[in-house]
Amino acid sequence: TAIHRADYQAPAYWIATVELCFDLDPAKTRVLNRMQLRRNPDVPAQALRLDGEELNLARVLVNGQGTSFRMDTTERGQQLVLENLPEGDEPFTLEIFTTCCPAKNTKLMGLFVSQDTFFTQCEAEGFRRITYFLDRPDVMALYTVTLRADRDKYPVLLSNGNLVEEGTLDDGRHFAKWVDPFKKPAYLFALVAGKLVAREQRIRSRAGNDHLLQIFVRRGDLDKTEHAMLSLMHSIAWDEARFGLTLDLERFMIVATSDFNMGAMENKGLNIFNTKYVLASQATATDSDFSGVESVVGHEYFHNWTGDRVTCRDWFQLSLKEGLTVFRDQEFSMDLCAEASARAVKRIEDVRVLRTVQFPEDAGPMAHPVRPDAYIEISNFYTVTIYEKGAEVVRMMQTLVGRDGFAKGMTLYFERHDGQAVTCDDFAQAIADANPQSHLAALLPQFKRWYAQAGTPRVHAAGHYDAENRSYTLTLSQSCPPTPDQPVKEPFVIPVALGLVAANGAALPLQYTVDSGETNASEALFTMTQAGHTLVFHGLDAEPVPSLLRGFSAPVILDIEYSDAQLLTLLAHDSDPFNRWEAAQRLALRHALNAVSAEGDVPAQVLDGAFVEAMRAILREPALDAAFKELVLTLPSEGYIAEQLAVVDPQRIHAVREAMRLQLAVALQPDWAAAWEASEHNGSYSPDPLSAGRRALAGLALVNLNLAAAPTGDTVWPGRTYQRFKDADNMTDRANALSALVGAGHELAKPALERFHALFTDEALVIDKWFQMQASAPDRGGDILPLVKQLMKHPDFSIQNPNRARSLVFAYCNGNPAGFHRADGAGYAFWVEQVLAMDAINPQVAARLARALDRWKKLAAPYQALAREAISRVAASTSLSNDVREVITRALAD
Ligand code: ARG
Ligand code: ZN
Repeated sequence: TAIHRADYQAPAYWIATVELCFDLDPAKTRVLNRMQLRRNPDVPAQALRLDGEELNLARVLVNGQGTSFRMDTTERGQQLVLENLPEGDEPFTLEIFTTCCPAKNTKLMGLFVSQDTFFTQCEAEGFRRITYFLDRPDVMALYTVTLRADRDKYPVLLSNGNLVEEGTLDDGRHFAKWVDPFKKPAYLFALVAGKLVAREQRIRSRAGNDHLLQIFVRRGDLDKTEHAMLSLMHSIAWDEARFGLTLDLERFMIVATSDFNMGAMENKGLNIFNTKYVLASQATATDSDFSGVESVVGHEYFHNWTGDRVTCRDWFQLSLKEGLTVFRDQEFSMDLCAEASARAVKRIEDVRVLRTVQFPEDAGPMAHPVRPDAYIEISNFYTVTIYEKGAEVVRMMQTLVGRDGFAKGMTLYFERHDGQAVTCDDFAQAIADANPQSHLAALLPQFKRWYAQAGTPRVHAAGHYDAENRSYTLTLSQSCPPTPDQPVKEPFVIPVALGLVAANGAALPLQYTVDSGETNASEALFTMTQAGHTLVFHGLDAEPVPSLLRGFSAPVILDIEYSDAQLLTLLAHDSDPFNRWEAAQRLALRHALNAVSAEGDVPAQVLDGAFVEAMRAILREPALDAAFKELVLTLPSEGYIAEQLAVVDPQRIHAVREAMRLQLAVALQPDWAAAWEASEHNGSYSPDPLSAGRRALAGLALVNLNLAAAPTGDTVWPGRTYQRFKDADNMTDRANALSALVGAGHELAKPALERFHALFTDEALVIDKWFQMQASAPDRGGDILPLVKQLMKHPDFSIQNPNRARSLVFAYCNGNPAGFHRADGAGYAFWVEQVLAMDAINPQVAARLARALDRWKKLAAPYQALAREAISRVAASTSLSNDVREVITRALAD
């Protein structure tokens, strides 16, 4: 059964201090947990119920004495129940001695072993797998941790805070004692023990404090940590400069592990990272890997304030820290961009993720508000809605109060709540209270509907030009479709950044009245609060082209009927780069949707001449950044096209999009060649946005040149591509060349893949790319599934390692629609097998995979019936985890 937000109750006990002592052994780790507790006088006296999972309990002492206790086994797991505790609100000591088996912990929650090293992951509810505890974020305690382990096998012993003591023990063992000066919830606890080496950096903050920064990795990986360290230093400087938030610890540590369910974890002072977001070198990491490292290092560092210093009262408030911290990491990456154009590119990339992943989530069976009302398994709610949509909600607040106003709001938030576990209301209230004159303050209760109502709102816009009155009337209306448990929605507060563009491209002055009001507005931001609004713009000599939702000012779908000519105007001239890009996407989407819904075979020419020429013009435009060109020239994904349709035939969409790709490849062949030549540069590698953009465009050019090779009888480009693949001095160029060959199905792909594997046998993250590239290659006649099945047997494949599973199984089921949605249902049968196999090992990861068929109800025949059958087969399993059960039950609900 589900847990409901409305049922929140304060804890019956508080824990002031925790002393943990670990005897680390992979097969049997002994944990002594000595706590100071007292009753919470604000709630009725009751038994103490401590959460625990897969623990062996040896002893319980209260104030040093044996005590009676019992175990309660519920469907949510085990609880240790103590009924006869001292009365009154005096503190008492509780000692619990347990053992656990990290070596067998394949769930990667709690204490686990990866490559002979101990790691922990406690968010959200992993601490209960280490010891019995009040495992909830509003119970914040001071921790002292002693680690004991074999000195040779585990020379490095780390936990949160400061190292206060270390030394030798008998039998070749040693110990280290750590004290964390900050109160924290259990989910921020961490320990690491193993053979690791560190890159170290000493810094002095602006405030004059000295800090030691350390990044711990396996010996061979030290040369791949420079970028992470630079990113950390930039993060520290940025948080000081933009929000006045300083590093509060003498020592800040990052440790990398190759077995990790998620990206990284913000444990206080001891962040634990997936290697994917720490390790980066020119030879092994692509530009997007470099930027992933920068974002995630920033993200986890920023959690030190937004998450650790101020945390969540309960897990329904998860977006309090995640939405805000994603917003912060997005802003950080944008602020690191030297050029405005690079900021715009970053914004487009972030929006693309939101629209291709979060919008479908919001329209499917897992749709939930940014602050959910109920869940069965909290791990299932680490979603793009909580993270990315949550970040958009924070971004709208900043838009409504201004950048400085937002910084003031953050300051007030920390003044009020430092050291507390709070709610999303507390955050929004602080931002509003710091800006009493703002739209946000005036509209706060309505604004907070963004936290409460699921689903993506639609804004419908329609314009009418009145030549006689030289006026242009724009009507804006909003609606939001029903989502599970929410049939009816109230209007949202929607900030619409807008401008008017003349047919010749000139920006037009804004003079308008709202809802037949008296006052003239000239602001480029209009805030919708009602179901409908009418804006009348004055003084216009000709019909303007409206540019709405500039910079994607709200996470909504904008319905507006532009003519092709209007979109071409925006594409060529809009001063807002986001809407320039958006105009090209809309044009491409229009052509795609027309061809998808037409009868008969997919025509060779899906695109019209005007679109092709517009793309040529963009490619040739010297004033535009390469990165921006690459975004404009990349067609909307198959998934994004599918989202626009009521009934989805993945094979038809694939065929149409492939036809469009081929058409652009052939029609622009000389321009692609020119773009590739122009991107050639000498000089050393740097992952900065400008040079990364050049490589991205060069990569897209190679993809196109290889696609065009067969139909045009060209034999030069595949050979040149292979040469580039061999000679590349960085992973971006090398991987782009390889995937151009693989994607075009060229015969050179095979030797290139073999060579790639041989070159990087010992680089796990590169081998991941090798699997991923093959599993996500364009399907030709159903050839991908057999390949995937064959790769599952490759000696390098392991379903236990989440990165590897993601690079093969997820890359196929989630990242290759045409390969997966097969008319014979074999893709779904494979999915059933993998979900069940994975669930027995790692339910969290299995539940992610289970979501690959979220949108099955939209599928056309025969896919829909086959998908339903596959989901039912998973549902029929009697041994499902709560994680997978929740996802599957929702998928089957009407
Ligand atoms: N708080 C982490 C982050 O966003 C994510 C941890 C999620 N872990 C989990 N097992 N669900 O940086
Ligand atoms: Zn986070």
